Amino acid sequence: MSTKSYSETFRPQFHYSPEANWLNDPNGLVWYEGEYHLFYQHHPHSTVWGPMHWGHAVSKDLVYWEELPIALWPDHNGAIFSGSAVVDWHDTTGFFNGGSGLVAVFTHHDTQTPSGVPRQSQSLAYSSDKGRTWTMYEGNPVLEDERHVDYRDPKVFWDSERERWAMVLAAGQRILFYHSPDLIHWSFGSEFGASEGSHDGVWECPDLFRLPVDGGSGESKWVLIVSIGPSDELAEGSRTQYFVGEYDGVSFVSDNPPDTVLWLDHGRDNYAGVTWSDVPAQDGRRLFIGWMNNWKYANLLPTEAWRGAMTLPRELGLAVCEDGVRLRQMPVKELEALREKEFRINHAVINAGDGNLLQDIHGSALEIEAEIKLTGASAFGFRIHGSAGQGTVIGYDASRSYVFIDRRNAGISDFHPDFSCEHGADLKPSGDILKLRIFADHSSVEVFAGDGRVALTDQVFPGPEHQNLELYVQEGSIEIISLHVYGLKSIWDSSK
Ligand code: FRU
Repeated sequence: MSTKSYSETFRPQFHYSPEANWLNDPNGLVWYEGEYHLFYQHHPHSTVWGPMHWGHAVSKDLVYWEELPIALWPDHNGAIFSGSAVVDWHDTTGFFNGGSGLVAVFTHHDTQTPSGVPRQSQSLAYSSDKGRTWTMYEGNPVLEDERHVDYRDPKVFWDSERERWAMVLAAGQRILFYHSPDLIHWSFGSEFGASEGSHDGVWECPDLFRLPVDGGSGESKWVLIVSIGPSDELAEGSRTQYFVGEYDGVSFVSDNPPDTVLWLDHGRDNYAGVTWSDVPAQDGRRLFIGWMNNWKYANLLPTEAWRGAMTLPRELGLAVCEDGVRLRQMPVKELEALREKEFRINHAVINAGDGNLLQDIHGSALEIEAEIKLTGASAFGFRIHGSAGQGTVIGYDASRSYVFIDRRNAGISDFHPDFSCEHGADLKPSGDILKLRIFADHSSVEVFAGDGRVALTDQVFPGPEHQNLELYVQEGSIEIISLHVYGLKSIWDSSK
């Protein structure tokens, strides 16, 4: 448990952020011997991006995190870009004298090339002491291909059907698939993406995993996640798309027509996210963490001691929807441990023009769990981080069946012209009932609507004095089936 204060303005109180300096992508997420490891892109000497290291934190419960010393430092092969970590249970690498340990598979980014064009290649480091100290593999890099300038972010997993390692890698606007018996020697399988999905920016941070489809039929599907860098033309900036399909150990084929674009999150601030499984800790859940930021303005955020935070850890599933099998996501259940003060209301009809039911609730760190029956209102929603004239709106527009976040009036936004915006996603309520789960921290809001079928993640910079909460209804009425509002504890509070 940290003894540091973490009490600066905008400091996330229940999301991971480094005590000081820059953070971007989550890396090397792995569960090993009772600990969740979170490594991340880190610049230990500055609050803007620079030569990348792997920062490191551990957690026993996905709620409270302890920051550890830096795990990986740049060396003669270059800076340490994104990648993954695996447990080498059977010592396929030979690094562990017949035992087991952690192996990090990451990109070396070398700027000291004769041509001056940076070179990216894949390398290994290993640890026999639960990730506390690391040794660079002396044969680095283990995978290079000079045809690709952008050639990075290896995600490795054990392919249990074929009993070998599998890797997905981003190269320009393609995903490359490789396999290996020992993490050292890699064979190329295939490439994906020439005509599929969105090509609005460079492809980064791929991930590939299998998930059961809801409904108990026993069917499962493969999901390929691909982050897309920002383009100058689009206000959205960096985003994350995904594909659902089949993988046979060599290639991936999408179930959907090539022009289908599926977004993992409909907010602006969920990028470079990757998944891992916590077998055998918790029934083999598929967990996800993203970088809660956007390259459009990541270096400009109005924070001081640190810059960058992670999303909440989420559990992924696959839902059968009208248009096909789609990802759903909900925050991990462990986060319920943060709940303290509770406000609860069941079965109440609220009409447009009624007073604010939530006027006595104040806070900057809140969870809202609502089940609302639409009984005629054209729209309803919550205004969080509020004060006279300011607030972030999380709303549902019933006339358009559209759930949205409006951060146009949410606080500081002048650090980038594209920050101030409203955005959302279509969502039909099921049987006129809309379920919403909202997590508001000091500089973010995460919304999970329709049992996690739509997720929206946004940063906001309201300032500590904006603590009001409002429920509003427009034109008509809603019926609250249930509404819980919880004040949430700080994970940095050492008196826990
Ligand atoms: C994604 C990314 C990765 C790269 C890392 C560098 O945000 O650009 O592709 O490995 O960040 O910090």
